[in-house]
Amino acid sequence: MISVCFVCLGNICRSPTAELLFEKMLAERGLSLSFRVSSRGTSDCEEGNPIYPPAARTLAAHGIAGEHRAKQLSLSDVINCDYILVMDSSNLFDVLRLTGGRFGEKIFKLLSFASSANDVSDPWYTRDFERAYSDIERGCAAFLEYILKEKKEALGYDARH
Ligand code: 4NP
Repeated sequence: MISVCFVCLGNICRSPTAELLFEKMLAERGLSLSFRVSSRGTSDCEEGNPIYPPAARTLAAHGIAGEHRAKQLSLSDVINCDYILVMDSSNLFDVLRLTGGRFGEKIFKLLSFASSANDVSDPWYTRDFERAYSDIERGCAAFLEYILKEKKEALGYDARH
């Protein structure tokens, strides 16, 4: 079982989008049972809230729906996950502050897997939810390819199946 936690600031736009999209990608490959996928916010500013409606509408336009309540990231979440995938440099700073700089080997910016140093576009400020979705899709697809290579033995995955 590989555990992945997507992290943004509020856990109502970018990271729940990544969680649901990555779960869909896993389901399409028959890999759902090999992963535990979650999402968290570095802040508690949206604690308990559902996915922000424009982000939920963007997901729905791509055929994705799911239940969600925002939750703040804790140190034990970091300890108990194999991969902490943050959306931007500010999230990275906040997570490293939470951990006292530890666990850096499992904390990555999502788009780094797509060979990009860029942040995922933040729709809270750009209001461009489709652009954020597209960045997240690119990052999740690249992360999935990475993990399938990295954990090929553990997953017993063969792309020809
Ligand atoms: P998220 O979006 O981090 O992608 O969930 C935001 C949600 C709330 C705020 C900023 C970004 N906020 O400033 O309250």
